[in-house]
Amino acid sequence: MKKIISILLIMTMAFALLTGCSTESKTEQPAENNANQAPVAEESKDEDNTLVMYTNAEFPPFEYFEGENIVGVDVDIANEIAKDLGKELVVEHIDFSSIIPAVLNDKADFGAAGMTITAERQEQVDFSISYVESIQHIIYKKDAEVKTMEDLKGKKIGVQLGTTGDLAISDAVNLEDGDLYNSGAEVKTYKNALEASQDLLAGRLDAVVIDKLPAEEIVNNNEDLGTVVFGDISEAYGICVKKGNEELLNSINTTLQRLLDEGKIEEFIANHSK
Ligand code: ARG
Repeated sequence: MKKIISILLIMTMAFALLTGCSTESKTEQPAENNANQAPVAEESKDEDNTLVMYTNAEFPPFEYFEGENIVGVDVDIANEIAKDLGKELVVEHIDFSSIIPAVLNDKADFGAAGMTITAERQEQVDFSISYVESIQHIIYKKDAEVKTMEDLKGKKIGVQLGTTGDLAISDAVNLEDGDLYNSGAEVKTYKNALEASQDLLAGRLDAVVIDKLPAEEIVNNNEDLGTVVFGDISEAYGICVKKGNEELLNSINTTLQRLLDEGKIEEFIANHSK
């Protein structure tokens, strides 16, 4: 009887061992296949090792030319993003209003240009977390002191084409309920705020409206000009990618969060403010 029991026991154990093995190999099989497939897909999606940033390098301290090189806060940030990804950064200069189109047609991996996150832009591209807060500023000539919305009535106002400053002033002038509607105020668009401020100095404009730090940059380099906050809408800068490019957006966000935590962005701003 004992013998029969032990034979039965051995048989059961052997059976369990066999089925155990076969179950194991069954579950391992698909997992192995997945592991083999993933890197292949990765490689074919991203053959070259560059990361392409589009910007408009006429917006110090965020991006500007130093000789032939584009430098600035956004370039410092982008270098960190590229470093974290193990890629080589390529920076291209283009008109501000052409940056989002370049992201949409895959010329650029991302756009970084002190770009304000707005609802309209969010319909076209996805934005990173915000890395800088800003607000519009007005640049005025010290001998005229055109400083407020009220002062702008009937005046010539310079803006950088396609920027949030342009949108705000154009709305104020063109919309029926706008503060400058029917006041005789005129908007003149420029490629950059420096050109606009030269026209301001030459008397062809009465004021320029542009973001805080670029306004301060211009005024710090010209004693005849002053600047003061304009309006009360605070703006947040973000880096934009093609809609749905979650992988890149996540890497950008991780790097941005690290730089914010380490106080690096403030350091970059200080380094590029003159
Ligand atoms: N923050 C403003 C905007 O998003 C101005 C940005 C201009 N940037 C530049 N690199 N030119 O509209």
